[in-house]
Amino acid sequence: MKEAGNIKALMLAGGRGTRLKPITHTVTKQLLPVANRPILHYAIDQIRQAGISDIGIIISPETGSSVQESVGDGLKWDARITYIVQPEPLGLAHAVKMAQGFLGESPFIMHLGDTLIQTDLTPLIEEFQNHTPDALIMLQEVSDVAVLRLTGVVQVDETGKVISLEEKPQQPKSNLALIGIYFFSPAIHESISRIKPSQRGELEITNAIQDLVDRDKKVLGHRLRGWWLDAGKKDDLLEANRAVLDQFLKQDIQGQVDAKSSILGRVEIRKGAVIEDSAIRGPVSIAEDCVVKNSFIGPFTSIGKRTVVEDSSVEHSVILEDCHINSIERLADSLIGNRVNLAKREQRFKGIQLFTGDDARIEL
Ligand code: TTP
Repeated sequence: MKEAGNIKALMLAGGRGTRLKPITHTVTKQLLPVANRPILHYAIDQIRQAGISDIGIIISPETGSSVQESVGDGLKWDARITYIVQPEPLGLAHAVKMAQGFLGESPFIMHLGDTLIQTDLTPLIEEFQNHTPDALIMLQEVSDVAVLRLTGVVQVDETGKVISLEEKPQQPKSNLALIGIYFFSPAIHESISRIKPSQRGELEITNAIQDLVDRDKKVLGHRLRGWWLDAGKKDDLLEANRAVLDQFLKQDIQGQVDAKSSILGRVEIRKGAVIEDSAIRGPVSIAEDCVVKNSFIGPFTSIGKRTVVEDSSVEHSVILEDCHINSIERLADSLIGNRVNLAKREQRFKGIQLFTGDDARIEL
């Protein structure tokens, strides 16, 4: 691995996570699992593979300790990790402001911890080092105007130079969306000090980049190919799970599988898991100490630690830890939080009996 000079990384693991409520009441968005591994860990892998070893992670007072527990001191990545508390989620530019002591005068990559991209970061770092812009921002073509209205939209000229940026525009001026990976020179700090909070009360990084453009600084856009997922949304999280299982999962059976069960395709069954009288069709990841009995687990499913699935069929779903799924004929396209009990009960009068927490979303 080639080391990337003095470039540092700033990863964001604060924020509110409102779009993934109710799950984010108890689990930080960046720690939600994709193929039974926290999203943030994939992002750290990519940063590290690109040769950056000095990593700052923005955390919130509420969920910071769970991020610290999950990532630790960075030893398993051979990286130096510095945690920076952002007292309130006052915007992406505010997060950079909180990190000024850590960043000093170094150029840096900023990575929103809930973003997954297919592309390796190494060529992008080389582009940043070779062209020495004040900002190099990753963009993706988006054809759906409704999606563009929820993101930062960027106009670039034919040479890739950024002309304008707008956060969540009603009338998007282009089809290029910001995807949450940016490279900056230290010039960004002055721009951040010049901007004011937006209408939603946040210091927006798009406004700070626009300030760089207005000051005639060199701001370049780079169109990414391959998939990009904002795992902060349910459907994207399922899609991220699908993409990662599809591309990276390796067959690895460490748990017990009885003679009446069949395993087809790439399946990971971790230590302590027990599969009885069931069919598993990969790609599927089953975490430690799960029990699967008399069930079918279909493609693109991840099941978290200690979850029990009995007399059920599950596919294209992410189920977190300590759940109990019983007698569910076909659970599909679902994201199920920790400790959920889902059971079908035979009864004379057909009715639905629910006992749900706040912000639940149920589609029957
Ligand atoms: P967002 O997804 O834009 O915001 P959010 O986490 O508040 O989520 P939601 O829209 O569902 O309410 O944030 C992108 C990433 O940046 C995410 O990993 C959280 C992080 N973040 C911070 O660390 N500090 C902040 O002030 C903000 C706004 C986000």
